[in-house]
Amino acid sequence: MKLFVYHTPERTPEDNLPDCAVVIDVLRATTTIATALNSGAEAVQAFSDIDILMEKSERWLPDKRLRAGERGGEKVPGFDLGNSPLDCVPQVVAGKRLFLTTTNGTRALQRVSQAPIVITAAQVNRQVVVNYLLDKQPETVWLVGSGWEGSYSLEDTACGGAIADLLIKQGKMSLEAIAGNDEVIGAFSLYSQWQDNLLPLFHKCSHGQRLLRLNCHEDLEYCAKTDILDVLPIQKEPGVLVK
Ligand code: MLT
Repeated sequence: MKLFVYHTPERTPEDNLPDCAVVIDVLRATTTIATALNSGAEAVQAFSDIDILMEKSERWLPDKRLRAGERGGEKVPGFDLGNSPLDCVPQVVAGKRLFLTTTNGTRALQRVSQAPIVITAAQVNRQVVVNYLLDKQPETVWLVGSGWEGSYSLEDTACGGAIADLLIKQGKMSLEAIAGNDEVIGAFSLYSQWQDNLLPLFHKCSHGQRLLRLNCHEDLEYCAKTDILDVLPIQKEPGVLVK
């Protein structure tokens, strides 16, 4: 298995695809996706474009759908939910399809949607993602960070490092053997330095600061929890993730 870290959808190669793409948006899209599916949502369907989301969700039974999403971290006006994982409790999402649009995470998903296997990862479900990779042994794995509007996000890179770290430990591999690009070594090093202090790291990074300005303190605390959900979001058709 060779891992490749790409910090943003824009930096992800366009001329080929991996055997498995792992999309990461710790703050907060992939944390929300994992939480919604863990709480019994039927599926999460991701859109980068709000108009297309409206058009597709309109065809769904109203009591079986929730429109969720943000722009700039704030709830899209008129939607049922924003992008807080804490809203995705069973009483709200069970049995429903979440039609989700976010600033960056849904664009990252779209970027790799043609890969043969697409899964999503966050700190909350990192162990399950690693178990899946160790079990399936895809030859090439891309860890695709969502970043923020084309630029680097510390928290997505740290999660990429957290995945590499656990793969190395549980798969008994060396960093040199598994790293397909230098970004993997950078991500591993970042995680090694901050693994016991992820919440303080999230408080420093630019999107963490943005969310703190929006009073999302509890979201940061939740997103920093590691290996608490036993759920693997996997794409069943382009843009549609199920458990
Ligand atoms: C995104 O996709 O840009 C994020 O999930 C934004 C957010 O924190 O809601």
